[in-house]
Amino acid sequence: MSTDSSNNLLRSHIAELPLAELAAREKTPFYIYDEQKIIERIRDLKAFDVVRYAQKACSNLAILNICRQHGAVVDAVSAGEILRAEAAGFSSAGDPTPIVYTADIFDRSSLELVLERGIHTNCGSPDMLIQLGERAPGQDVTLRINPGFGHGHSQKTNTGGSQSKHGIWHSELGDCLQIVKKYDLTVTGLHMHIGSGTDLEHLAQVVTAMEQAAGVVGASLKTISAGGGLPIPYEAKESYVDLEAYFQLWDASRKRLESCFGHPLGLEIEPGRYLVAEAGFLVAEIRAIKKMDANWFYLIDAGFNDLARPILYGSYHPMSIYHRKARSESVALREVIVGGPLCESGDIFTQQEGGFVCTRALPEAEVGDLLVIECAGAYGSVMGSNYNSKPLAAELLIRDGQVVTIRDRQTFAQMTAGEHSPISG
Ligand code: LLP
Repeated sequence: MSTDSSNNLLRSHIAELPLAELAAREKTPFYIYDEQKIIERIRDLKAFDVVRYAQKACSNLAILNICRQHGAVVDAVSAGEILRAEAAGFSSAGDPTPIVYTADIFDRSSLELVLERGIHTNCGSPDMLIQLGERAPGQDVTLRINPGFGHGHSQKTNTGGSQSKHGIWHSELGDCLQIVKKYDLTVTGLHMHIGSGTDLEHLAQVVTAMEQAAGVVGASLKTISAGGGLPIPYEAKESYVDLEAYFQLWDASRKRLESCFGHPLGLEIEPGRYLVAEAGFLVAEIRAIKKMDANWFYLIDAGFNDLARPILYGSYHPMSIYHRKARSESVALREVIVGGPLCESGDIFTQQEGGFVCTRALPEAEVGDLLVIECAGAYGSVMGSNYNSKPLAAELLIRDGQVVTIRDRQTFAQMTAGEHSPISG
């Protein structure tokens, strides 16, 4: 055991609001987001003509509204995400296109909705072009190209290369242009997204691949999209991408293409995680502390039903402790395993990819203290489930120093709504 000299493992406030008050207001576990952080992140990217928020990262209507009010537009990957965007006030048409449907297939409901609303489509397969062309010839489309390479924080978030299902394979582009011609479609956009949690080196390779693909498509292009994937530092050893350098690479490429085509080209970026990850916290309560042979466990009331990233990818999230009872003495650190309430051994927040359990140095705590899982705003609440019949957690937002509920904690009736039992008696 060592003594904690740094304060970042102890947390008493989130965005200047006392945790004690937050926990008195809402049952744990709950998500809480700091609006100001999201606004700052959108502003960071203002050099790009269009910031298109990949709402899959966190699609709560209030978060979408913040993005809209601060000038971002959205990406939608399902009929549900189109409806969410509309519910948050995005219209289907405009310049830049407020909602773009990006996928590798049209399921039947998304095809109907896209056609009904006239939503611009980013097609990731030749079949999407055929299905769209057959029903609505003459449309503008964007093509998502798989450049033949990819990179992500996990193999599961790498979206390029021949083992990825995403995008139109770069050398199939010529064939796709035949489909485009057949249905009188116009390719106005090109898009590449090679993965999530990548780095500048890999992101930079996309620029060259984009220029090559743009050369094949030609002057019908109006927009190029750099995709998402901007990393955030979950761990101290990780860092941000140099945004200025990244923008310069894309801007130079865009300018080369503009002089080739003789008209302006819009430059889009499509971040999910970068806008919301650091704004979000999952607040849980320690409900049991136990020693298993040499291992200490903090068992909290949040599980992988609330935050699936550790069990899925071995993701690291910073954690901090709030002591309900003020301590006068300095706080010692203890190597602990942090687990949840679910009836499954993998319900561990301190694990590496492959399910290998590891420990984390956290301040000594007592049952009843709060444990805050940080950088949880992206791919947190949206990947929540009802496993073990746990309700979806509430979501709160800190806005102008006040806290508002942006999603109620799910009730038992809501959880079981739509279930029918044919057995009676
Ligand atoms: N654009 C497209 C087409 C995407 O598929 C994605 C992410 C993004 C943008 C946004 O990527 P971001 O900027 O957030 O890295 N559940 C995983 C991440 C899956 C990402 C899927 N697509 C995680 O928790 O890390």
